[in-house]
Amino acid sequence: MCQTCLSWYARCAAPYLVHAGCSANAFAHMRRRMIPLARGVVVEVGIGSGLNLPFYDASSVKRLVGVDPDGTMLGMATRQSRSLPFHVECIRAGGESLPLADGFADTVVVTYAFCTIPDPQAALDEIRRVLKPTGQLIFIEHGKAEGRLCREWQERLNRLWGRLAGGCHLTRDPLRLMRGAGFRVIEAEHGRFPPLFWQLGSHHAGIAAVD
Ligand SMILES: C[S@@+](CC[C@H](N)C(=O)[O-])C[C@H]1O[C@@H](n2cnc3c(N)ncnc32)[C@H](O)[C@@H]1O
Repeated sequence: MCQTCLSWYARCAAPYLVHAGCSANAFAHMRRRMIPLARGVVVEVGIGSGLNLPFYDASSVKRLVGVDPDGTMLGMATRQSRSLPFHVECIRAGGESLPLADGFADTVVVTYAFCTIPDPQAALDEIRRVLKPTGQLIFIEHGKAEGRLCREWQERLNRLWGRLAGGCHLTRDPLRLMRGAGFRVIEAEHGRFPPLFWQLGSHHAGIAAVD
């Protein structure tokens, strides 16, 4: 595909396809289980089109700041946030450089975004910085499969998938990334995706705290 077509696809088609894919039921059950655990001042890194918004517990969230570099997805999140009973602010920025003060957040939420953020290590350093010492990182992620055959196919497909799915990597290991960045990880759930999403590999959800 030529460069012009690729950049047209990334700007005009990928955000809608990623939104459609992430709206699937395969993702919703983990959202329903994990997102209500968010408390106080919440920062959602890579908020995308706002698919977690309906799952926040309004009696526990004081304020939510959603961050994403993609203007189209952020626009969808902003529209979705208008009906919520707590204050939501959507900021266009990358997770690698959060425009927020040190110790700003009680909770940081990241769902299916460590796979896409170009420099997840830098984003985790930023998450550590903006979290209060007692704060928690709630995550739901996919990554490197446990089975050898699936892992080999993830490696083969990785480049093409990244182009089709907004920069998503199939072969990252989110738990290893978080531990490497100094987080203590408590995994709440671990599973596989239904057949349509086999290429996403392992499915992880849990809570991490600064060690
Ligand atoms: C697969 S989507 C997931 C969206 C949303 N978190 C969800 O659960 O539906 C990945 C998201 O990561 C965002 N993203 C890409 N680069 C990023 C970065 N540098 N910092 C933060 N988010 C980023 C994308 O714009 C996209 O919204």
